Amino acid sequence: MRYFKITAVLFFLVANHVVAQEKLTKEERLEWFQDAKLGVFIHWGYYGVKGIGESWSMYHKRISYDDYMSQGKEFTAKNYDPDAWAKLFKKIGARYAVLTTKHHDGVALWDTKFSHLNVVEKTPAKRDLVGPYVDALREEGLKVGLYYSLIDWSHPDYDVVFPRPDTRKNYPQKNQNQLSPWQRFLRFNDGQLKELSTRYNPDLYWFDGDWEKSSEQWRAESLKDSLLAWNPKVIVNSRLKTYGDYSTPEQGVPVVRPEGAWEFCMTINDNWGYFPSDTNYKPVSQIIRTFVEVIATGGNLLLNIGPKPDGSIAEEQLVRLEALGEWVNKHESAIFSSKAGLPYGHFYGPTLLSKDDTKIYLALFDNPKNYISLKGIQNKVKSIKVVGSGQELSFERNGGAEWNNIPGILRIEIPKEKNLDAYVTLIEVELEDALVLYRGHGNAVELNK
Ligand code: GLC
Repeated sequence: MRYFKITAVLFFLVANHVVAQEKLTKEERLEWFQDAKLGVFIHWGYYGVKGIGESWSMYHKRISYDDYMSQGKEFTAKNYDPDAWAKLFKKIGARYAVLTTKHHDGVALWDTKFSHLNVVEKTPAKRDLVGPYVDALREEGLKVGLYYSLIDWSHPDYDVVFPRPDTRKNYPQKNQNQLSPWQRFLRFNDGQLKELSTRYNPDLYWFDGDWEKSSEQWRAESLKDSLLAWNPKVIVNSRLKTYGDYSTPEQGVPVVRPEGAWEFCMTINDNWGYFPSDTNYKPVSQIIRTFVEVIATGGNLLLNIGPKPDGSIAEEQLVRLEALGEWVNKHESAIFSSKAGLPYGHFYGPTLLSKDDTKIYLALFDNPKNYISLKGIQNKVKSIKVVGSGQELSFERNGGAEWNNIPGILRIEIPKEKNLDAYVTLIEVELEDALVLYRGHGNAVELNK
């Protein structure tokens, strides 16, 4: 008996130890994400049929519920080629993608058993669209992100601010009469999320709409626990109240460097979904500059596309992705081995820093005049080159009082015209050792030479 007790205690201790060891920290789970730099956001849904706002057009009563849902009849996914999507994303240097599996409108892109409002039952596509996307991304070695709106404006137990017909027939609820409407809704959301998790095992969940309810109402904490139980490596964006792993600023590039891991999501024109009348596409130059500003402050860019209802990608969006990709590939050596750059004040423009702190990358948004200047670097510089062309640039240190630890400026030669990139030129400054920055206010040189 005593022997049995000791064995049981030992077993308990060992089992606990294993469990404790397996639980990954947030930093460990975020490791791939922090190096990802570029992701593609995909808003694909009914709204592309009429080219109207995703879900919000219903909310703002620009279209009736029934008319909105009737778009499903033309959501064909006829030219949906997830392998080509994945190959394209890989080619442009993206490391992950995020697909809207269910937007606020409640339409599921997979054959959920929790509602009939899904593309398999309601559209000519007649098949699961999430699975092939997941497989294609994995085939290319890309991380899989699934967007899921916590809000469901079609669910009969979810209150809405616009007129909506009785939708109960789309949401079978067996033996749930004893539950409150909100309990039924949570059971529904949990059910769909368990379905997504167990079937597709995403690397990332991109929640949306948490603002409509409190953390307690969403049961955010226990939802996060469930997600981690289903996949201990999963990461979650910040729209699960305070239970997200990284922050998600949207549309306006942060002016102040956000803290912790973050991702900036941005539309390619002014709308998330396919919206042919919106021709206000961002120029390639803006997309590339934004990408550089974001990675220079430690974030990832999640650039959005809105495929057509047949699954093809509009030419205007393709050319932008391709152009960004060309730039990314040309500067790959700098982008993927680096982290956020120097604090403000050392260089007029964004910078990146190699992970071992021995290389600084200076981004030139404009063609430089006279010389390029870098301030406050205590280290000796080994060499300076233009990324891509490899042109070596001469440099000279001027001013400062080295013996008093006050560095002067580094005057760097301007690259040859042909070596200036059409969008953003990156200059690699290689230091003799790990970066030491001068962050002082300046002072008198009390002991002169
Ligand atoms: C927004 C919107 C939504 C969009 C999303 C993308 O706040 O509610 O329509 O899908 O965020 O970031």
